Amino acid sequence: MKIAVTGSSGMLGTAIKQVFTDKELIALTRNDFDITDPDSTRTAIRDIKPDFLIHAAAFTDVDGCEADPEKAYLVNSVGARNVVIACEPINCPVLYISTDYVFDGREKTPYSEGEHPDPVNKYGLSKLIGEYFVSMLSSRFYIVRTSWLYGKGGKNFVDSILQGLSGNKEIDVVNDQTGSPTYTQDLASRLKELPGKGFGVYHITNSSYCTRYELALEIVRIKGIKARVNPVTSGKLARPAKRPGFSALASTRLQHEGISEPRHWKEALKEYLTGPNI
Ligand SMILES: NC(=O)c1ccc[n+]([C@@H]2O[C@H](COP(=O)([O-])OP(=O)(O)OC[C@H]3O[C@@H](n4cnc5c(N)ncnc54)[C@H](OP(=O)(O)O)[C@@H]3O)[C@@H](O)[C@H]2O)c1
Repeated sequence: MKIAVTGSSGMLGTAIKQVFTDKELIALTRNDFDITDPDSTRTAIRDIKPDFLIHAAAFTDVDGCEADPEKAYLVNSVGARNVVIACEPINCPVLYISTDYVFDGREKTPYSEGEHPDPVNKYGLSKLIGEYFVSMLSSRFYIVRTSWLYGKGGKNFVDSILQGLSGNKEIDVVNDQTGSPTYTQDLASRLKELPGKGFGVYHITNSSYCTRYELALEIVRIKGIKARVNPVTSGKLARPAKRPGFSALASTRLQHEGISEPRHWKEALKEYLTGPNI
C-alpha cells in the first residue's frame, strides 16, 4: 500500500516516518507542494497516486493563528480542502489530523467523538473548518483528533519545560488547563492501524489526563531535576489565544474498531525522557 503523508518534516511527520517502516511511505514536504495552492496540490497528488493519504501539514502556532486568522484559515481550512479535492478523483482515503482545541473546554469529563465542537480560538476554528471540508468533500475520510503532542523533531511543551529549567531553578506553569499529553510515536503507531477500519471521527491520545502543571511536575520527577514548579492561572501567563480549560479526549471509537488505546501518558513520557530520542 502506497501511503503519503503531508507535513512530513514536522513533529508528527517525523514519528510517522519512523513508525511506517514496513509500508511504502511517501514523505511529502512544502518543497513537493504548498497545500494552499490548489493546482500544485492536485497535480502532485494525481501524479503520486497514493492509496492512502495522511494530512498532517498545518499552521500549528496557536498564538500565531490568533494574530493571523487569514493565514490560519488558508493553511488549516483551505489547505485541507485542497488536499481532499485532490484525493477524491483518485479514490484515495484521507486521514486528517485534527485537535482537541475544536472543543470549548467547559466539560469536566473527556470529550467523546460525537460531542459538539465549539472552539475558543482561531487555531481551533481553522482546524474545525478543515474537518468540515474533509467530511463534506471526501467520500472516504478519517478525522483523528489528538492533543498536547510532544516528540522528536518539533517545538513542544515537554521540551519547553526542560529548556525553561536549564538556566532556572523555578518555573511557573498553568494549573487550569487539563488535557492528555500524547507522544507522537504512540499516535503514529495507532494511525498505522487505521487503513481498512471504519471511516469517520476518532480521538487518539495517550490515556488519562492531567494539568500542564502536573505534567511539568512529572517531567521534573522523571529527569530528577531539582527545581520548583509553581502552579499559576492562565490569567497570570496571559497568551494572545485563549486555551480551552479542559480538553481531554475519550477514545471510544478505537475500542469499537478493535484497536487498543495508547498507554498511560506517564509511561509514554518516561520513555520519551529516558530513551534515545532526547
Ligand atoms: N502539536 C500539537 O500539540 C498538536 C495537537 C493536536 C493536533 N495537532 C495537529 O497535528 C498535526 C501535526 O502537528 P505537528 O505538531 O507535527 O506540526 P508541526 O511540527 O508544526 O509541522 C507542521 C508541518 O506542516 C507543514 N506545513 C505548514 N504549512 C504548509 C503548507 N502551506 N504547505 C505544505 N506544508 C506545510 C510544515 O512545513 P514547514 O516546516 O515547511 O513549515 C511542517 O512540516 C497538525 O495537523 C496539527 O494541527 C498538533
